[in-house]
Amino acid sequence: MIDLREPPAPTTPSTPHWAPPPLPETRGPVTARLFDVLRRGTDRCPDLGDLPWSADPLDDDDLQLALYCCYELHYRGFDGVDADLEWDDGVLRFRRQMEGRFESALRGLRGSAYVVPDDPADELATIVAGGADGPSPSAHLATTGTLDQLREFAVHRSLYQLKEADAHTWAIPRYAGRSRSALVEIQMDEYGNGVPGEAHAELFASTMSALGLDPTYGRYVDHVGARTLATVNLVSWLGLHRRLLPALLGHLAVFEMTSVVPMGRYSEAAQRLGVDAAARRFYDVHVVADRHHGPLAARHLVGDFLADCPNERPLVMWGAHSVMAVERRLADHLMSSWESGVTSLRRPLPATVG
Ligand SMILES: [Fe+2]
Ligand SMILES: [Fe+2]
Repeated sequence: MIDLREPPAPTTPSTPHWAPPPLPETRGPVTARLFDVLRRGTDRCPDLGDLPWSADPLDDDDLQLALYCCYELHYRGFDGVDADLEWDDGVLRFRRQMEGRFESALRGLRGSAYVVPDDPADELATIVAGGADGPSPSAHLATTGTLDQLREFAVHRSLYQLKEADAHTWAIPRYAGRSRSALVEIQMDEYGNGVPGEAHAELFASTMSALGLDPTYGRYVDHVGARTLATVNLVSWLGLHRRLLPALLGHLAVFEMTSVVPMGRYSEAAQRLGVDAAARRFYDVHVVADRHHGPLAARHLVGDFLADCPNERPLVMWGAHSVMAVERRLADHLMSSWESGVTSLRRPLPATVG
């Protein structure tokens, strides 16, 4: 008989593929202080007030990694870090200080000016089109990029792609109506409609293996810099704050509307570079799925939401602008590194998985 008076002690999962990863390496005083708290499980209130900050939080490796690790407590956590620290007052206060700097920096980003169309779907299309004149890693990879660069690109994306869709799922319990039905339809596809191995995160793990990379969750955090971490922190931040729900919907709409062409190019790159065909499936699945998801997101996810809540339009569009801006900064970094003949990673990759 089960004794309900004493809750069972939490157990460590024995399934290695979703076991929590180790904490990454520190990158400065902010991560050093945070990781000290996470390792010791102290209830001592950390304060960031006396720590040095760089001028641009979006390029601050130490701040972006610390924020990323705070958010990871809400996903899979870290090996050796008490799961209860997810809701620790001190850690949350520490996180809020970083989020304040992150939000200020995001609000300081400027997109190109445009005439606002009546239809929100047209406005989203205008925002997306505004990013078309920037550097294009996908065009580069499809035509002249090297296999090393394609592998690097997968490493950058792995922090998001191995938990693809999870942050957007946080929107589901936060509202109702036709827009939410569109969200659920998109998310069902992202999770492979419940078919084991078909979730897009799982397909991406197969792509990583085919590229000779290690698909273990969190394996490459130490390899990527602030600009990559900022792209992941943006969606985690939007997903974890109910007040930012409209911006999260704008973020997802942009993801769905900007996927088909680059995903087709990554698939072309894998084919041109002679990578195992298994690497292409993740990209090919997106070309098909997002031909449907893009219009669905513009017309229903966003359009129907704004029909119910027209006053939220600026926040929806701000979410769309923000994802375009942080992706543009990452694309600038990738292309300037590759044009200079150097790696875009903080440390080189080993040749293949050992
Ligand atoms: Fe997907
Ligand atoms: Fe999609």
